[in-house]
Amino acid sequence: MTEAPRSLITIDNLSNGEINHLFEIAGEMAADIPGQYGIARGKIMASLFFEPSTRTRLSFETAMLRLGGSVITASDVNATSMAKGESIADMARVVGSYADIIVIRHPWEGAAKIVADYSGKPVINAGDGGHEHPTQTLCDLFTLKQERHTIRGLRIALWGDLKYGRTIHSLAYALARFGATIHFRPAPGLEIPEYVLRKLTTEYKGELKRREGLQTVEEGTLPLDAIYVTPRSPHQLAMMPDVSLEVELEKSVDALYVTRMQRERMKANGSGSYPIVDKKMLKAKEFEKTLVMHPLPRVNELAQEMDGDRRAGYFKQAAWGVPVRMALLTYLLGIKQPKITEEADSLYQHRDYPVYTGDSVKCPNAMCVTSQESEKYLAHEFSIIKMEPLILRCVYCEHEVRPPFIASSEWHEGRTDTKKYHDSNSHWIKEIKPENLIIFGNESEAKTRGFKPSHYTGKVEG
Ligand code: NCD
Repeated sequence: MTEAPRSLITIDNLSNGEINHLFEIAGEMAADIPGQYGIARGKIMASLFFEPSTRTRLSFETAMLRLGGSVITASDVNATSMAKGESIADMARVVGSYADIIVIRHPWEGAAKIVADYSGKPVINAGDGGHEHPTQTLCDLFTLKQERHTIRGLRIALWGDLKYGRTIHSLAYALARFGATIHFRPAPGLEIPEYVLRKLTTEYKGELKRREGLQTVEEGTLPLDAIYVTPRSPHQLAMMPDVSLEVELEKSVDALYVTRMQRERMKANGSGSYPIVDKKMLKAKEFEKTLVMHPLPRVNELAQEMDGDRRAGYFKQAAWGVPVRMALLTYLLGIKQPKITEEADSLYQHRDYPVYTGDSVKCPNAMCVTSQESEKYLAHEFSIIKMEPLILRCVYCEHEVRPPFIASSEWHEGRTDTKKYHDSNSHWIKEIKPENLIIFGNESEAKTRGFKPSHYTGKVEG
């Protein structure tokens, strides 16, 4: 089997060493943009944008043209055969036979992974619904490095729509890996999803502190909901500073990452309070030297009066998009070979979770690609993150599911009397090996498959 080409679907597909190396290339390229012409001669980039985009699409296309490569593009799903009902997988196979690299933005979470799974070409996720947007994170990190030289030890506040803002999710993982302290300051009802917080606490080496109970919030600002602190080095885990949310609020913030309310992803018309970040709000002492960031586009959440302020960093973020994406394209196309010095003290710990595939559990996220395409060809697939209690994570959109009933394929082999199912939070879960796990979405499904309820379903029979 040939190895699948390297893709960038989630920010964790690149190590810290690779990101640092990419930034070196991006810096060199930025210093001599015309000198890069011809590096990607003969290469074709497919630019598939099935959601609105200005910066991401135009900066990718500019990047490829600056490298002397060519671009083919589809920007309206209604103008492609997907409007006729073609699957993402079929579209990916076909585009993969035309282009050398594919950049895709799609409203369904996990769509970019499908394209990577089926196209046979390197794929770059330019935003998949509310899930991730890793190349925006590269621009954000590059800007932070330019403006603050290092990310380690910085205090960065994520502000606004932390629930649906895909740039927020990718950035939070990256900040955790590079050793920043993260302040989560969501608008009411738009808190960071549980699956993101769980990932931060299971796959990264820092610690999360959440606010217990309500806090009184001054008008015109957003509450500090949680903080994530990383040790200065993994050897200092025991010396994790004992932070309190009250004390943190008083400390100066190195960067404030503002986001717009992602109305297009909401069923109802958004929540109430969404204060405007303006000079008045940023008068507070903790924002005196803060770099104000925003992935753009802005709507009303960031006042225009900030544009001339020395703290404004958002147009720089957008401008770095071209050299950063030029570097990424040459890297994934294999034109620039990696020269990686991996940070010995990485704050990310990759985990190989056992996988569960079966029809009984479906991803609960209506925007997950499996909710849209599973009838055609896709199986629901989950990583088993935890056994006690049982928590599964969809491999496409990463939303979590806690299935209600379980059994083990090991216990009842040939013996119908022990063919029983249990509540998933009963102690039996401890005894089941992940490879033997059987899951039922409800009791009738278990019974149809010949299982009887055990004492641990709350409903014992016979
Ligand atoms: C962001 C996106 O598309 O997620 N925009 C971008 O790519 N710079 C942010 C947003 O749309 O709010």
